[in-house]
This record gives sequence, C-alpha cells and structure tokens, in this order.
Amino acid sequence: MPTQDLMDKLVSLSKRRGYIFQSSEIYGGTGSVWDYGPLGVELKRNIKERWWASMVHRRDDIEGLDAAILMNPRVWEASGHVDGFTDPLIECTNCHRRFRADLPEVAEGQCPSCGKKDAFTEPRMFNLMFKTFMGPVEDSSATVYIRPETAQGIFVNFLNVQGSARQKVPFGIAQIGKAFRNEITPGNFIFRTREFEQAEMQFFVKPGEDDEWFARWMDVRMQWHKDLGIREEKLRFHKHGPDELAHYAKDAHDIEYEFPFGWKEFEGIHNRTDFDLARHQEYSGKRLEYIDAPTNERFIPYVIETSMGVDRTTLVVLADAYREEDVEGETRVLMALSPEIAPVKAAVFPLVKKDGMPELARKIQSDLRSAAINSFYDQSGAIGRRYRRQDEVGTPWCITVDGESLEKGTVTIRDRDTLEQVRISMDQIVTWIQEQLS
Ligand code: GAP
Repeated sequence: MPTQDLMDKLVSLSKRRGYIFQSSEIYGGTGSVWDYGPLGVELKRNIKERWWASMVHRRDDIEGLDAAILMNPRVWEASGHVDGFTDPLIECTNCHRRFRADLPEVAEGQCPSCGKKDAFTEPRMFNLMFKTFMGPVEDSSATVYIRPETAQGIFVNFLNVQGSARQKVPFGIAQIGKAFRNEITPGNFIFRTREFEQAEMQFFVKPGEDDEWFARWMDVRMQWHKDLGIREEKLRFHKHGPDELAHYAKDAHDIEYEFPFGWKEFEGIHNRTDFDLARHQEYSGKRLEYIDAPTNERFIPYVIETSMGVDRTTLVVLADAYREEDVEGETRVLMALSPEIAPVKAAVFPLVKKDGMPELARKIQSDLRSAAINSFYDQSGAIGRRYRRQDEVGTPWCITVDGESLEKGTVTIRDRDTLEQVRISMDQIVTWIQEQLS
C-alpha cells in the first residue's frame, strides 16, 4: 500500500471510529496536538498499564514515581536544556515558512513548502522548551519551563526514592507522564507532536557495571515490543554514531519501527553516565552520592535510561495492526491488535432484535461489565456488517446470541483473526475471555 495511503487511512479511521481527533478541531485545530477518543484512550491506557506492570509491578528492583511537570528552573540549567536543547531553525524568505535546517530536503537548499531554491535565511538555534511564568508577575525571574522530558523529575528524586523505598544500587525509577517540545517541524500524525507522553525508566548502577546493564536493557525492551505483538521484521536497533549522541550520552541505541514513512525511532536506550546526577549535585549543592553498604564506598551512580514515547508506540501499534483482506470479493479492514491492548475485548450481538435475544445479550454485557471486561453492545444492521465494524476497530471477539442461546444457553464466539467460531455455554463467557487474556 502506498505510504501516504496507509497514513491517510489511519488518520481517517482514527477519527471516524473514535481513536484520535485533532485537538480543538472546531476552531480549526491546533498545531500538531491530538486528543484520544473513547477507543484511543483505552488503547493508550492499555499500553501504559502493560509497561507499568512489566517495569514496576513484576520487578522488585524498580520503583514508580509521578513527578510534577513544573520544576525549579535551575533543573533545566543543570540538565543542559536551557543552553543546549535546540534545533537549527531557518526561514524561507519567499513563503516565510520555518523549518529545521537539518531536514534532508532543506539541506539540499529547496523549500519543502513553496519549492523556491536557495531562499533560506541563515540558521539560528531555537530552544524547544515551552516557557511560562509562575505567579502573577511576568518577568524573567518568574520564568518556568514546561518539562521537555520526564527524566529530570526522576534524577532530582533519586535519593528520596532510594531512601524511602530502601532500595540498593542497582535499582530503577519508572514514570509515565506528559512532556512538551516546541517542535519546529512536527508531523506524521501522532509521530512528532508538541505535547506527548513518555514512559521512562532510569536504572542506577555502579560505574563499571553500566555496559553490561545497557546490553541487558536493550534485550528487555526489544522483547517487550515483540511481546506486544509487533511484527519482528519491522523492528530494529539503530546505534547512535558519535555525531548523533546526545550531550549526556556515552552510548545510545534507538528501537526503530518501519513506519509507512520510513524507519524511525520510538524508544531510546541511553547510557547517561553520571552526567545528570553530577550536574544536579553541582547546581543544587546537595550531595547525590550513593553509599554502598558493606564497603562504605561512595559513588555517583551511572544511569541506563529506557525512554519510550507512548504516542509513538500507539502509532506503531496502529500501523502494525492495520490490514486489508479480501473476503469473498469484499475488502475486510482489520486491526489485528493484540487482545491484551485492544480497546474493546468483546462485542455482544443479538442475532435478531426480537424473541428475547436483545435481553439475553444485554445480560451477557452486564456480566462482562461486572468483570471489568470492556465490551460493546450492537443490535443494528446485518450481522455481517456488525462483525466488520468490530474488525475495523480491532475487537478480538464477537459474541452472538441466537435461537440456540434461548433453547440451550449457549452462544457463538467469533475470532477476529481466524474468523472461526466456537460455541460455549453462556455462563462460561467471562472465564473464557479471562483465559484468552492471561
Ligand atoms: N529522556 C530522554 C529523551 O527524552 P528522546 O530521544 O528525546 O530522549 C524519547 O525522547 C522518546 O520520546 C522518543 O523515542 C519518542 O518516542 C518520544 N518523543 C520525543 N519527542 C517526541 C515528539 N515531539 N512527539 C512524540 N514523541 C516524542
């Protein structure tokens, strides 16, 4: 399928079916900011909950944190963001659109918007952090930044978490939260936006043990994406060359996905050394050393960071799941989402709108609701059309109440991917679904 076709189809399906809407759409939208609708919020929550379960609940060496978005402005001086979190910005003197100078087409001298050649201004460095004022006085002493990464909230809480949770190095701190960047050239739907979510984990290790932990975390994170059901041939690592490494990183590998618009990063794994803790120690004047218990050895830990973009992972999941199949001469659009993260787990249909079938179907839906299994009731239109509507949003199972249900208390459950149907007793539906999800 041509690249633009797939992206257009994803954007259109997302809007039509309630996955993702343009922010403030009735006012003409706002630049590269998106809202998650009823299905989108479920999908994104499921991805985040899966991440939290694997990083925090299933491990005893990682603690959770929810730090504030607004922080003391000195944090961003220490981290290097005030001076260094910049992109080179140029403007086309013909159409006055602005671009990042390092975009390939711009580097060739041609304006991507009006096509004019060699009409760019000299590049100037543009800081990507949003600023606002804290308190009623709008002057430079009241300037605060809206965090461009969640990581710094973890670094400044390193000793709070370590001491209160009585953790010993090596251990990690995980957090999911919003981050904001005033991107010059956002785009590709939810790929590059100005407001987004990150799921980040900082793992504090003894210097000298960092390379080994880096390799371990590369394996763990790649496996996590495979377990999410992402096709393996669409995933790869990209090692940063010396000119790509961030100012804080000794080593960095991106996990990339082959999007319709090419191979792109959606998670970064970085060896941040002791850069951040050492800088916060210097700027705050507070000791941020760890004292190793048996030897009383003092050191500033090294940090291995895993930083996943939640919105980009959502786009990976949607792009990877989108299929079009020919079924008996008709195109079936299918979101082959892993059932674990599918927004709706089961749809319940009465075969016809009479003979007590709707009441029975409603009762099944009420049982699913009581078990906190997200479900959808639909009695309108031909059964085939109802199946197609659920295929398009990725619902793994459709439960149909028919004549036999009334006589024998059984229903059919149709599988989204194989189209096969099984017949089971009504009172086993909840257990059956729970077993498939476990
Ligand atoms: N703490 C390290 C850090 O922030 P990064 O590579 O700048 O590293 C990590 O960002 C991840 O955050 C990226 O892999 C991407 O998934 C996500 N991300 C970064 N900027 C983004 C943007 N403008 N829109 C959506 N996601 C973004």
